[in-house]
Amino acid sequence: MSSARSEAHHVADAAERRWSRLVAAIVLVLLAVMVFTGLHWAAMPPSRVETVDPRTLHIRGEFVEENLGTELGADGKVTVRLIAQQYSFEPQCLVLPAGMPVTFRATATDAIHGFIIGTTNANVMLVPGFVATFTTRFERAGERLMPCHEYCGTGHEAMWGRVQVLPADEFIAKARANERLNCVPS
Ligand code: CUA
Repeated sequence: MSSARSEAHHVADAAERRWSRLVAAIVLVLLAVMVFTGLHWAAMPPSRVETVDPRTLHIRGEFVEENLGTELGADGKVTVRLIAQQYSFEPQCLVLPAGMPVTFRATATDAIHGFIIGTTNANVMLVPGFVATFTTRFERAGERLMPCHEYCGTGHEAMWGRVQVLPADEFIAKARANERLNCVPS
């Protein structure tokens, strides 16, 4: 009797050890996938949490209309500010330099939107009430498309922006102090 019990105990013990080894292996594989994709594809880390009031975006603060677009700061830093709303971006066409770090600051007014730029690693989710920010660099000049990639309502599939990446010298020549660049046809 007691030997049957200890036999059962032994079987259960071995089974538990097997399962815990499997779970540990799965956790290690997932960690390896995270590290690989993070390093190999330069995946963006999650945006830091910076809040903004979506009800007053257009009235005051950083995201008023005349401050949207691309700014070349006196210190040489490039910052682009944009807003996503059903069903367009403001501005709809961005002008950016090639080969220079570009910092994006963006938010949404009404629903969750997002964008990805061509085949680059510029890829972000825009949540009303939060400022999404990341810094990236475009190696080559040229035109890129910027679709909204979060389902945001019935007009989602028609929500596209355009991006013109200019050679750095051309961009710098175009950017003037206190101006915000965009390529929306006037
Ligand atoms: Cu905006 Cu989908």
